[in-house]
Amino acid sequence: MERFLDLVKQRYSVRSFLDKPVPDDQLQYILECGRLAPSAANFQPLHVIVVRQPGLKEKLAATYPRDWFKLAPLILVFCGDHHQGWKRADGKDHTDIDLAIMIDHITLGAAEIGLGTCWVCNFDAAMCRQILELPGHIEPIAYLPVGYPSAVQGDTTRHLKRKSMDEIIHDENF
Ligand SMILES: Cc1cc2nc3c(=O)[nH]c(=O)nc-3n(C[C@H](O)[C@H](O)[C@H](O)COP(=O)(O)O)c2cc1C
Repeated sequence: MERFLDLVKQRYSVRSFLDKPVPDDQLQYILECGRLAPSAANFQPLHVIVVRQPGLKEKLAATYPRDWFKLAPLILVFCGDHHQGWKRADGKDHTDIDLAIMIDHITLGAAEIGLGTCWVCNFDAAMCRQILELPGHIEPIAYLPVGYPSAVQGDTTRHLKRKSMDEIIHDENF
C-alpha cells in the first residue's frame, strides 16, 4: 500500500468473519490507533470495552440480533463519557464526534493489518447499558465487531458508490 487513499479504499464493512481469534498484539495496535485520535480540547471522553468472552458476546448479540454479528471473535463497545466531553458555548456536546474519530482511526488501522470491522449503531442501547452496567453519563455509542474477513463477503465496493465531489463540496458558499 503506497498512499493513505489506498487504505481508505481498502476498508469496507466486514460482516463475515473467520473463526480465528485476533492476536493480542493486533488488538493492542488498533486500540493504540484509537487512543491517539484527536478529541475536542483534548478532553478524551473515550472508553472502549473489549468483549471476547462467548457468554458476554451472546448477551450483547441480543441487543443487535444478526447472525453475523455474534460470529465476530471480538467486539469493541465504544462508550462516551458525557461528563468529560467538550461542550461549545451553545451547549453542543462533542462526545459523539470524538468517539467517531477514534472509531474511524481503529477501522483504518484494522484494515491496514488485514482485520475487518463494521460500525454498528443500530443496537438496543438501553439493553446494552444494562448488560454492561454502564452509569448514566456513559453512553454506548457504537459497536465494532473485529476479526479476519472470511472469503465470502457482501458488498466490498461501497466506496465506489459514494456521492460525487460535486454533490458534497461547495465552493465558497452552500
Ligand atoms: C455511524 C454508522 C453506523 C452504522 N451502523 C451500522 C449498523 O448498525 N449495522 C450495519 O450492518 N452497518 C452499519 N454501518 C455500516 C454502513 O452501513 C456502511 O459503512 C456503509 O453502508 C458504507 O459501506 P462500507 O463501510 O462498506 O464502505 C454503520 C456505519 C456508520 C458510519
